[in-house]
Amino acid sequence: MNNFEHNRESWNELTTLHADSSFYDVDSFKKGKTSINHIETEELGNIKGKKILHLQCHFGMDTISLARLGAEVVGVDISDTSIQKAIELSNELDVPARFVRSNVYDIENVLNETFDIVYTSYGAINWLNDLHKWAKIINRFLKPNGIFYMVEFHPLIYTLNDNSEIVDSYFKSKPLETVVESSYTDNSEVSNKNLKHIEWHYSLSEVLNSLISNGMKIEFLNEFPYQVYNCFPNLTEIESGKWVSEKYGDKIPYMYSIKAMKI
Ligand SMILES: C[S@@+](CC[C@H](N)C(=O)[O-])C[C@H]1O[C@@H](n2cnc3c(N)ncnc32)[C@H](O)[C@@H]1O
Repeated sequence: MNNFEHNRESWNELTTLHADSSFYDVDSFKKGKTSINHIETEELGNIKGKKILHLQCHFGMDTISLARLGAEVVGVDISDTSIQKAIELSNELDVPARFVRSNVYDIENVLNETFDIVYTSYGAINWLNDLHKWAKIINRFLKPNGIFYMVEFHPLIYTLNDNSEIVDSYFKSKPLETVVESSYTDNSEVSNKNLKHIEWHYSLSEVLNSLISNGMKIEFLNEFPYQVYNCFPNLTEIESGKWVSEKYGDKIPYMYSIKAMKI
């Protein structure tokens, strides 16, 4: 099995846990609550009538949230279970959205159109082994002057261990392989004990340079002194929806966002 197939298998299992977790809170979502956070809502601006390609859409909550704001959306994900659940959710809520199962790197085999916005968020690029290829695909799927927007966990976070000590290099040269034992949502255990994740962590310069060298003009890079999700060890909530490390507080960056335009 190659690395992507390992990730696909583990994401299939995790998706089932996530759809039932309080972390994703699908019940409130079904009643109308958005899954999009204030950062991306404000930074994206008005998306009514925009055609959006959502990369690594998981089981579609953000994709459907974008559709609820009036966008025409296509969500892509490698996980069969994610895409199946996303389609079920969109049908049940009667919010139109298209969902396609594909590796990000194979999208050209399943889609042949262009978009106003390509969007990706929280815990996405660490599943990709080649950012230059990724940026080339983003460029390929944007209309002229189209916008790429991403919001992600800051790479500094991935240098910390469970005791918040810097143990890993910020500059990673090798993929990281871990056995998947439980979900980050509520620590519920996976039933298949042979699952593994293969991840690639990137420095900010690697992300920016991949976009710049593939025809994208950076409009902004923002860094945030808090985390919107309680999904890393030892976080404490300082304000509603703002989580920081018990040890470092708001002294370090936890997330970043990038807006870039196809030139
Ligand atoms: C943490 S989730 C992203 C959640 C995201 N914040 C959202 O809900 O919009 C990561 C997703 O990436 C997907 N994924 C991982 N590797 C992928 C790849 N190579 N191509 C497409 N999707 C991939 C997984 O199946 C999973 O659904």
